[in-house]
Amino acid sequence: MGKGTVILAFSGGLDTSICVPLLKEQYGFDTVVTVAVDVGQPDEDIRVATEKGELIGDKHYTIDIKERFVTEQLFPSIKANGSYEGYPMGTALARPLIAEEIAKIAKAEGATAVSHGCTGKGNDQLRFDFIFRKEGLDIIAPMREMNLTREWEMEYAEKHGIPVPVVKEKPYSVDENCWSRSIEGGQLEDPAFHPPEDIYAWTVSATAAPDEPRELAIGFENGVPVSLDGERLDGYALIRKLNEIAGANGVGRNDMIEDRILGLKAREVYEHPAATVLLKAHADLERLVLTRQELAFKAIVDDKWSELGYMGLVDEPLFAALSAFVDKTQERVTGTVDVVLYKGSVTVAGRSAKEAVYSDDLVSFESTTIDQNDAVGFSAYYGFQARLLAQLRK
Ligand code: ARG
Repeated sequence: MGKGTVILAFSGGLDTSICVPLLKEQYGFDTVVTVAVDVGQPDEDIRVATEKGELIGDKHYTIDIKERFVTEQLFPSIKANGSYEGYPMGTALARPLIAEEIAKIAKAEGATAVSHGCTGKGNDQLRFDFIFRKEGLDIIAPMREMNLTREWEMEYAEKHGIPVPVVKEKPYSVDENCWSRSIEGGQLEDPAFHPPEDIYAWTVSATAAPDEPRELAIGFENGVPVSLDGERLDGYALIRKLNEIAGANGVGRNDMIEDRILGLKAREVYEHPAATVLLKAHADLERLVLTRQELAFKAIVDDKWSELGYMGLVDEPLFAALSAFVDKTQERVTGTVDVVLYKGSVTVAGRSAKEAVYSDDLVSFESTTIDQNDAVGFSAYYGFQARLLAQLRK
């Protein structure tokens, strides 16, 4: 009598593929259900995962949550200017939803165990496990538990009739969703190694980008993007289109040293063209419509929101409280931001909003609406404690 059914988070890559026979031979499960969750990976990846899952698993599901990913994770992240150590989070935002989908299927299939292919060195194990433990599921993570080498994995795969990717050198580990593509591992593990051009898939190099700047108007409503050059698009379509436009102009590459949750520093390379543009435009619009007090406090909230998001602690009560604050501020973040994409850079050229906390009349050098003499009294008090002290110490 075996251990019943286990639900495996399945990408179709080598690691999760060999998990299928391992879960039976090493862990004693009778049935392995593979689940691929579509958060906007390339169609080809989803096709391969589906075909492979159907071939090697006992039962396979492909679940499309692209729309949900955009509205429930990416929109809130735009509102909170979501970034960790300076890059727009992507993988971190997808993991909790993927884990939830796996947990749902576990329930439907009457399984008490779930499995993922994460290693014991990265962040994703923690993001998955957090959700799985909350759901009371047993977690099997063969990559973390068995310390396998790639060579062993390839041989094991071949023995079990699993199609093996043909790669000579240690390949890169790539994770994709519609917001971000991350590339790590292989030669990139040497922080001094210059990334070769062929690791990139969404962006051209700045030098290969067109010589003509590309202008683009981005419309926002309540903190989320709703249009490109006046054309209304739903969130997923807008992000896809902007990925193409910005990527073609070399915008959205990022090569950085990142502090993982466990404390390990890692060299990560990212592509996130749409995210780069949208976050820049959104933050710029906020500067026009939010008050100085709101902006200063929101910067702290955004930072904490991002940290919890990065850690995948989406059920931490503070996360909901911060999100409520962010949502409240976004009620006025409606307007248009004009950006210029040019050879890898994105600059804001202009912005407008109905509820801008801005008066060109009051600020203008040409206007006499405000009597400039009003500032004299203010100036008399300005910094007087510091002046007083300087006087005493003379
Ligand atoms: N460092 C990023 C994060 O923790 C991306 C990790 C994605 N994984 C990968 N196999 N490329 O969010």
